[in-house]
Amino acid sequence: MTDHQNAPAAGSSNKDRVFIFDTTLRDGEQSPGASMTFEEKLEVADMLDELGVDIIEAGFPIASEGDFEAVSAIAKRVKNATVAGLARAAFKDIDRCAEAVKHARRPRIHTFVSTSPLHMKYKLQKDPSEVLEMVTAQVTRARNFVEDVEWSAEDGTRTEHDFLCRTVEAAIRAGATTINIPDTVGYTVPEEYEAIFRMLLNRVPNADKAIFSVHCHNDLGLAVANTIAGLAGGARQIECTINGIGERAGNAALEEVVMALRTRADVLPYTNTIDTTMLTRASKLVSGVTSFPVQYNKAIVGRNAFAHESGIHQDGMLKNAQTYEIMTPESVGVSKTSLVMGKHSGRHAFREKLKELGYVLGDNQLEDAFKRFKALADRKKIIYDEDIEALVDDQIGHEGDRLRVEALTVIAGTMGPQTATLTLSIDGQHHTKQVVGNGPVDAIFNAIKALAPHDATLELYKVHAVTEGTDAQAEVSVRLSEAGRSVTGRGADPDTLVASARAYVAALEKLMARRQKGAPAPIVARIKP
Ligand code: KIV
Ligand code: ZN
Repeated sequence: MTDHQNAPAAGSSNKDRVFIFDTTLRDGEQSPGASMTFEEKLEVADMLDELGVDIIEAGFPIASEGDFEAVSAIAKRVKNATVAGLARAAFKDIDRCAEAVKHARRPRIHTFVSTSPLHMKYKLQKDPSEVLEMVTAQVTRARNFVEDVEWSAEDGTRTEHDFLCRTVEAAIRAGATTINIPDTVGYTVPEEYEAIFRMLLNRVPNADKAIFSVHCHNDLGLAVANTIAGLAGGARQIECTINGIGERAGNAALEEVVMALRTRADVLPYTNTIDTTMLTRASKLVSGVTSFPVQYNKAIVGRNAFAHESGIHQDGMLKNAQTYEIMTPESVGVSKTSLVMGKHSGRHAFREKLKELGYVLGDNQLEDAFKRFKALADRKKIIYDEDIEALVDDQIGHEGDRLRVEALTVIAGTMGPQTATLTLSIDGQHHTKQVVGNGPVDAIFNAIKALAPHDATLELYKVHAVTEGTDAQAEVSVRLSEAGRSVTGRGADPDTLVASARAYVAALEKLMARRQKGAPAPIVARIKP
């Protein structure tokens, strides 16, 4: 089938290059329940750089010590992309942001202020002339540190046009090189958003000195449509997140925007540098670290995005895939499964399957994974790729072998008390305790605490079924925090309670490893923009 390969439409040129600004680590991470640990943020940043995004918004450095450290570490390690940090109009925000991004090869300060009547009156309690002064002051301050300054008009789509023009003019005059007009509350519609950019590009003096940017929230389900409309109006930077995570209903999903541009390059003559074959991997990574499941029918990366079940569709697909597929699964990194795994599969096939799924394991790790795979195949009729991914992720997520779940028996049900009898191997010695709890999971976690005493707080406990069916493996995520530092552990097993114990132990082992390395300064408080 035709694969467009980002083919620019006839007549497209450099002016049609759009810059992809990913804010998964800032706007995405800001959404309730999506917080990531320091290590997870670095992993996501590396993946985004490899994916080919132009700008990584790595966080909001003034928000907390943890945010500052993460932005600073990302700035140091990212090889290709520009690394941006977010700052409000206050000088202390901007200075902190400058400090965090200063080691980046290409640092950017992204500073913003609200411009809509509603926000100015109630949120800022300032009048328009004061806000206009803030724009000049904040951009000037940021330009003292870096050449690449982005300015955003928060709630831009509900801002009066004359005032929006004046603020944009002031920002460009003060040296902003990117002007972002966020649809902060997901209120605009495509025609209106397109018209805002046309209006700004026509009316603002020196508008050609800056790149205009779209930033759309999905409250009305229009984020991607609005994003594309913004391009038609003249914007050339797209702010988006992997899986569309973000405040409330989320932000425009990177994978959707990029695949729309690629698949409809005939009518959307814009180019970008994203390697679309990495989109599925990126989606899985972000879903895994945030423990935010991807909805089954999510465009591009949902489990059903390329599934055809109805007879008519299957018949059409067999005759010619283009009958029901507008893009190939391979173009977004979904590999055609060539090896079906089961209890008769040998080591060689298992190694090949791991390769197909993108894992390279050392000999010992491979041997352990193979043993676990065989054990799983004895218990489960069909082994899906997701089962193998969960099994390997569980294994490589365990940082050492100081702690291991050796045996677990749980009494659950209506009679109570729910009781866990757990044997843990601690530094090679087996220890057993029987502990009750308020439910079976509570009993297990109490047993772990009794065997390996610690003060960590449980921040998150999430279970999801890796595949369908009652024999599906459960994948459990547990986040623990201690002295302001959070870590996530994962466990996978067909028995949800065993997976829970493994996940808790994996997190605890990570905390123990951090303690040895010396934990960094605690996160004091988190401010959201
Ligand atoms: O939605 C928004 O307005 C934002 C700004 C801080 C850019 O995320
Ligand atoms: Zn936003």
